[in-house]
Amino acid sequence: MRIFSGIQPTGDKHLGNWSGGFRQYAATQEQGDAFFCIVDLHSITVEYDTEELRERTLDLAAMLFATGLDTERSTVFIQSHVPAHPEAAWLLASVASFGELRRMTQFKDKADRQEFVSAGLFSYPVLQAADILLYQADGVPVGEDQRQHIELARNIAERFNARYGDTLALPEMIAPSEGGRIMDLQEPERKMSTTGGSPQGTVRLLDPPDVLRKKFKTAVTDSGSEVRRAPDKPGISNLIEILSAVTGDGMDAIETRYDGEGYGRFKEEVGEAVVGLLGPIQRRYEELRSDPRELQRLLARGAEKAREVSEPTLQTMLDRMGLVRSEVGRNFGAARPREL
Ligand code: AMP
Ligand code: TRP
Repeated sequence: MRIFSGIQPTGDKHLGNWSGGFRQYAATQEQGDAFFCIVDLHSITVEYDTEELRERTLDLAAMLFATGLDTERSTVFIQSHVPAHPEAAWLLASVASFGELRRMTQFKDKADRQEFVSAGLFSYPVLQAADILLYQADGVPVGEDQRQHIELARNIAERFNARYGDTLALPEMIAPSEGGRIMDLQEPERKMSTTGGSPQGTVRLLDPPDVLRKKFKTAVTDSGSEVRRAPDKPGISNLIEILSAVTGDGMDAIETRYDGEGYGRFKEEVGEAVVGLLGPIQRRYEELRSDPRELQRLLARGAEKAREVSEPTLQTMLDRMGLVRSEVGRNFGAARPREL
């Protein structure tokens, strides 16, 4: 089974990313041949700082290893190191329709927040489809917010196969049974996010223990006093889901355990569980992040493997689409950097 997922090197990573992303990556690498991509080319579609992007890319690499990816089992690499990604995205841009891209809710949400809406932001899901389809991935571990993008990738693959002959595998989304959509602790009607959430309601993976404890202590709770999931208790329901994702205990078992208890102790214990989870991750992260050259080395090795695996798909796509392959070969040598 081939696994592929991508994650953006922007915004501080938070507990939602851990639950829908990192946690699943570490688990799925056990199930097969796994590729995890730091999607820097996706991050340039909205306003960003160039120096910060460079730092964040290595930060994210360290976090991927700190949360359990193992280079013996997984291929971890940077998207821009593998030119087949943007190349395949251009090919697939003619297989995706304007209408289906216009319907993407993530595009609509992000476009509403930008003064300058780039063409890249609009075609973002096509690049994501290219990421996945180049590797012939069977499974894509992501959080619930990515469902529409994975469905689009499937539709694009189906359309490509119908037009040009069977070439691309149809990917399936892998979502966790609980914790696929973690909500903001202060505003539990919106998803946890460093770009769209509240600062106090967003649990950052690098928050120190006292900050973590305080965020859980001050998490909004609902009327009533029972620790129980209910549509009119979004705050408590979210905390139950978080505790379940962190400890692996079922949500029913958690409700039974806190039967008759008030919110206070429950919130405190969810906070402690998160502190216990993140402590070791933070220590590993600091250690890995202090050696950027080693990170670069691991990422270069990942890129090499990713190039080898994606290139045959790209070549088949080009061929089936009727493009004449160059006799000159693909390697023209590196261009000389422009003198500034
Ligand atoms: P991003 O940081 O946007 O690249 O997202 C990385 C991964 O985290 C993706 O698989 C998302 O689906 C997942 N994710 C982001 N926010 C949440 C959330 N609030 N709850 C669960 N998963 C999330
Ligand atoms: N769009 C995804 C997100 O915001 C990131 C992503 C890019 C991705 N390419 C991917 C996820 C390929 C899975 C597979 O989270």
